[in-house]
Amino acid sequence: MHRRNFVAWLSAGSVSALIAPRIASAASNCEKMAGGVFYTKKNPGRWSGKVGGHLPQLEISKTADGIRLKVMTAHEMRGFEHYIVKHVVLDQDYRFIAEKMFDPQKDQVPLSEFQLGSFRGRIHVLSVCNKHDTWLNHTEI
Ligand SMILES: [Fe+2]
Repeated sequence: MHRRNFVAWLSAGSVSALIAPRIASAASNCEKMAGGVFYTKKNPGRWSGKVGGHLPQLEISKTADGIRLKVMTAHEMRGFEHYIVKHVVLDQDYRFIAEKMFDPQKDQVPLSEFQLGSFRGRIHVLSVCNKHDTWLNHTEI
């Protein structure tokens, strides 16, 4: 291996060693990602005045079919100009469970319901606005 290639290879390895722990750290604590990928009540980032209209509100109830999760975002549905695109439900490890896509020409309010059967644990919910990005809330079941 030529000296120049060896130095480049060595530098790339050093950079990877510096970056990798940060990626792992971010993945283990998604709350720190707020402002980068999604926003939360505690970390509204550049949308600090938009929490009330974008943070998904979560309501858990027990039905004959099991746990029901109701998600509501207090946001307008002004056609394709400004609306909530969808709600996404994730488990405690941020794995996808279900989603509800909204049609801004038909849906008057961004309201969704999910049947979660006998699920136990933490649920994360994303609400996606076409102008003000993605917001995360969570609850325990
Ligand atoms: Fe919005």
